[in-house]
Amino acid sequence: MAIVEPSARRAEESAALDRVLTLELARVTERTAMAAARFRGRGDEMAADRAAVEAMSDELSHLPIDGTVVIGEGEREETPKLWVGEKVGTAKGPEVDVALVPLEGTTICAKNLPNSITVMAFAERGSLLQAPEVYMDKIAIGPGYPAGLVDLDRTPAENLKALAEAKGVPVGEITACILDRPRHTRLIEEVRAAGASIRLIGDGDVTGVIHTTEPVETGIDIYMGSGGAPEGVLAAAALRCIGGQMQGRLVLDRPEKAERARRMGITDPRRKYGLEDMVRGDVIFAATGVTDGNFLQGVKYGRNCVTTHTVVMRSSTGTVRWIRARHMLGDK
Ligand code: FBP
Repeated sequence: MAIVEPSARRAEESAALDRVLTLELARVTERTAMAAARFRGRGDEMAADRAAVEAMSDELSHLPIDGTVVIGEGEREETPKLWVGEKVGTAKGPEVDVALVPLEGTTICAKNLPNSITVMAFAERGSLLQAPEVYMDKIAIGPGYPAGLVDLDRTPAENLKALAEAKGVPVGEITACILDRPRHTRLIEEVRAAGASIRLIGDGDVTGVIHTTEPVETGIDIYMGSGGAPEGVLAAAALRCIGGQMQGRLVLDRPEKAERARRMGITDPRRKYGLEDMVRGDVIFAATGVTDGNFLQGVKYGRNCVTTHTVVMRSSTGTVRWIRARHMLGDK
């Protein structure tokens, strides 16, 4: 038997597991999306979210991983399942950090509007930013631009001008995606004053960020504004696989938020995080559509089957796989 250096063996094992886990990850998001889709358009956000959390938690319990939830449904006392710090998987497998949003866009799912998804990522242990449940200021653009082209510390007008020049179009042909919130009134005015167009979204900024990676398909060039910090880390995980640039800064505008962040190990409350600060190592990411969107189709019911549409990505290889799966129900 050949003697393999432990580090080389670990690398081989991790590559093999990576491949297996890629499909397992997709299975989890598919099942979760199917569970949430039962509540699509029923006006009950809580029921949709509960179904997604239960399905994801159940599916995760069968996975051959020694997982720890680092981005989850909240702190232990706030949620019955998938809390930050919860151990998931069979404990017989690689040690991974798990970041998840069982149902991104609970309101859009309840209203059956576009772009509700289920999302999860596995990363090397210790490599994901443990983001508290606070807002994060975010800016993101897709791949193919010079590093540092946009920056949270520049004005919206400066960022839009730089992006338009790099893309070779007038600012008027740039579209920014922004969450439709009163806190963004000034940002929206500034973007419009700069001459750019805005796609206002009701919810779902993980999708908003990912949309910047395919501007031809989605019509979105840049994501701007604040949204959930955990969602920011998941979006960063996706961009780490597909390419693109993103910065985030926690909004710690009240002492209790700063304290919450400090308890999670954040020592510099004003720190500007780049993509590599939020996701420091290899990551695999999967998202399945719950409702139809520009990027993923929603769950569809056939006579005896259900179809799902999933994207799975690996940062180590840059592979992006689209999986359209047909799941048989009962007798075939
Ligand atoms: P849900 O919790 O309903 O899934 O909403 C998700 C979301 O829209 C995220 O995409 C976004 O980061 C965050 O909520 C924004 O928070 P708020 O609704 O407080 O502006």
